[in-house]
Amino acid sequence: MYDFAIDASDKPALYRDLLGALDALTAGEPDAVANMANAAALIAQYLPDLNWSGFYRLVEGELVLGPFIGKPACIRIPLGQGVCGTAASTRTTQLVDDVHAFPGHIACDADSASELVVPIVRDDVLIGVIDLDSPKVARFDEEDARGVEALAAMLATRL
Ligand code: SME
Repeated sequence: MYDFAIDASDKPALYRDLLGALDALTAGEPDAVANMANAAALIAQYLPDLNWSGFYRLVEGELVLGPFIGKPACIRIPLGQGVCGTAASTRTTQLVDDVHAFPGHIACDADSASELVVPIVRDDVLIGVIDLDSPKVARFDEEDARGVEALAAMLATRL
């Protein structure tokens, strides 16, 4: 069992502590599935108002479902499709206040209202994406985007 003292009083402190916890959880562990599984669980435990937290990995040119916390989800997403496929093909963070207004959004969980997807890139190679969904409209802001990008940058070296 792992327990972390996470300061949720403000977002910079929350993401700083999450990054430290993720560092501790994944340091020295070479198994990508184990590290993605613990990262998905850590994020789901400490970020409020999420209904889905997990990974899609780039496998032979398409995104394939990885470790996650949430309802069973779409298994394969072509590059360029949906929020995840857009983040992957453009290699840019997708911050979507209202998923129903996003052209081509793929509805895996009807509860999802807003979404944050961050690409994971190592040495200019796309590894996959972190996907976070919330049942609240506009749940994520720029601080969340920068915070999850920091988590993705660390994970890029550990997957
Ligand atoms: N909504 C995503 C699909 C993945 S689920 O949210 C887990 C998308 O549009 O890419």
